[in-house]
Amino acid sequence: MATESTSIHGEWSGRLAFILAATGSAVGLGNIWKFPYITGENGGGAFVLVYLLCILLIGIPIMMAEILLGRRGRQSPMNTMATLAREAGAGQAWKLLGIMGVVAGFLILSFYSVVAGWALAYVERAATGAFTGIDKAGVEQLFAGLVGDWERLLGWHTLFMVMTVVVVARGVRKGLETAVSVLMPLLFLILVLLVGYAIAQGDFARAVEFMFRADFSKLTGESILVAMGHSFFTLSLGMGAIMIYGSYLPSHVSIGQVTLVVAIADTVVALLAGLAIFPIVFSQGLEAGAGPGLIFQTLPLAFGQMPGGAIIGVMFFVMLTFAAWSSAISLIEPAVTWLVENMSMPRATAAVTTGFIAWLLGIGTVLSFNEWRDVTWFGRTFFDNLDFLTTNIMLPLGGLLISIFVAWIMQRAHLLDELEMPDGAVFQLWHFLIRFFAPAAVIVIFLNSVGII
Ligand code: PFF
Repeated sequence: MATESTSIHGEWSGRLAFILAATGSAVGLGNIWKFPYITGENGGGAFVLVYLLCILLIGIPIMMAEILLGRRGRQSPMNTMATLAREAGAGQAWKLLGIMGVVAGFLILSFYSVVAGWALAYVERAATGAFTGIDKAGVEQLFAGLVGDWERLLGWHTLFMVMTVVVVARGVRKGLETAVSVLMPLLFLILVLLVGYAIAQGDFARAVEFMFRADFSKLTGESILVAMGHSFFTLSLGMGAIMIYGSYLPSHVSIGQVTLVVAIADTVVALLAGLAIFPIVFSQGLEAGAGPGLIFQTLPLAFGQMPGGAIIGVMFFVMLTFAAWSSAISLIEPAVTWLVENMSMPRATAAVTTGFIAWLLGIGTVLSFNEWRDVTWFGRTFFDNLDFLTTNIMLPLGGLLISIFVAWIMQRAHLLDELEMPDGAVFQLWHFLIRFFAPAAVIVIFLNSVGII
């Protein structure tokens, strides 16, 4: 049996509550907005294959490790790492892992909120019938009109950040959980419906070939890094969000089982999003590598043409907003719990402070699509740099440190105890992946992307 302790911040009511919250964190803009556009930019099939392998061989084992840390430490990531390092007789420098997670959370939330603002803006557009009968030039113009106007972007970004802070401040995670438990299945249904539409009206065969026929000549060191980084981003790994959620997990729940459920749900949603979008991209002659605007330029075309498209369009963007919302609250949770524990701040003050800093940083992303469009550092805009730094560097680095800590520093007996597994084949496979494979893969992919190997 794992140790019977609980977190001062509370505990989930059980297994299902954890699965809902962790799926709420994992399924978000990463699956529906980001996965299709980076697949498009990185040439399709081979990229998807590497991404799936990363989920299976790196993401799932590290997710188990991160939940395990959270449940054993039962505090904010920083204090969890400090406690567990003490327990294992290791140095307090492991706290830095928690600090890096808090910083990554701020940085990600800052741009996440801006893109979630696009989803909010598209709810309004869908509701006012802006998609009816729209053509390719129309959708491109509609998107350019939104992102080109920094004041409007700032407005939507502000609204989304306020929504996030309110939920976190009031601790009404329960309310959102209930909403998400209804809306997530609905989002899933709409995605299935959109795939159905794409089969009937789009170039489905070409999309399947694009997504699943691996042409390795299209794979570069950087696209392998992007695939790996995305496997962390999409599962919310490497920054303490899942660690925090693990800290609220009752001790009798099987970590392996819940991890599998969350990872499968997350992957299925991403693949469905791709299968809904690419058939339309190809049948309408759109650009697969169109970048961050991809879903905002393809789906409105489908909504504009399908029967009942106005309603379905509104529902889709409302659900996308909810999916983003439940991910955003997990992005600021590590910082908020830390402020509550260490600065004795009331939860509401901690939430407002955190949200304000992320909002301020978000202005850089808002401007990346208009005023600062041509301002680049290392050949990338402010937004692209933030995305690259967090997704491709900080999250994998966090994951690397988590795997090293769990597999090399913690006692094996404690791992068996938390996972509640016998020391059999499954445990040994997990232990091998976390001890050797995952750290080696992260390091090799890092070095390969910068051209060292
Ligand atoms: N997993 C979320 C998504 O795919 O949209 C994004 C995310 C949430 C990343 C929480 C990291 C995190 F800690």
